[in-house]
Amino acid sequence: MISKIILLGPPGAGKGTQAALLARRFGVPHVSTGDMLRNAVREGTELGCQAKTAMEAGLLVSDDIVVGIVRETLARADYARGFVLDGFPRTVAQAERLQGLQTSAPGPFVVLDVKVPDEEIIVRLSSRRVCSACTRTYNLISSPPKREGVCDDCGASLTQRPDDKPETIALRLVVFHKQNDSLLEYYRSQGALCCEVDGTGEVDAVAQRISHLLELEQVR
Ligand code: AP5
Repeated sequence: MISKIILLGPPGAGKGTQAALLARRFGVPHVSTGDMLRNAVREGTELGCQAKTAMEAGLLVSDDIVVGIVRETLARADYARGFVLDGFPRTVAQAERLQGLQTSAPGPFVVLDVKVPDEEIIVRLSSRRVCSACTRTYNLISSPPKREGVCDDCGASLTQRPDDKPETIALRLVVFHKQNDSLLEYYRSQGALCCEVDGTGEVDAVAQRISHLLELEQVR
């Protein structure tokens, strides 16, 4: 039974997009550390103040802060049936600490490593826009809003994430490439189910590839 999914991949690989679809499909919560940290920054909490500088610079927030918020989240009753992790873990230290967190969700972790070339990442992230009120994500090329600069759902204005500026995207890619191979190595050494997913093409095509891989894993 598949109930605990980890999505790995570069910034802009579509982890958030695919995690939301998987969470709906399996009826489990979507855990995005990026969204949780951004909410904390928006609300001006102490955690948000600690995370803001690193996030806007495209660097990682400290393991202690991130593991702390994930620990609190996974301990909640509605996470007992499983969850989809998007953006966590990012380092081997986080992965090791995830193993030790209390969760009653059954089964092993399934790790999906979403592959998208850096050139495409730069295009995707430069054209991402986010609703300033409801946080719905758009892409000016692949999924534009009906009216320019305005959210289809709530009518609020669309903004660009501070870390989606070209120089910050480049740094986020460097940070990602530095961590991801050792993270995958860690999961393989733990005997986790690790699947590589081609993250290029339309959102539905990527979702279908993931469904196919998960079906194969379920019949193993
Ligand atoms: P986080 O929010 O996790 O950012 P990220 O990993 O850099 O990923 P993104 O949200 O940019 O992209 P995504 O892969 O989710 O793609 P999306 O679906 O949005 O983290 C932000 C920051 O928080 C980090 O830099 C760090 O500072 C901190 N942080 C978070 N977690 C941390 C941790 N564990 N440890 C330490 N620090 C942490 O899609 C991107 C765009 O492409 C969208 O416009 C979308 O519409 C479009 N798109 C999606 N799929 C497709 C497709 N198939 N074709 C064309 N366009 C597509």
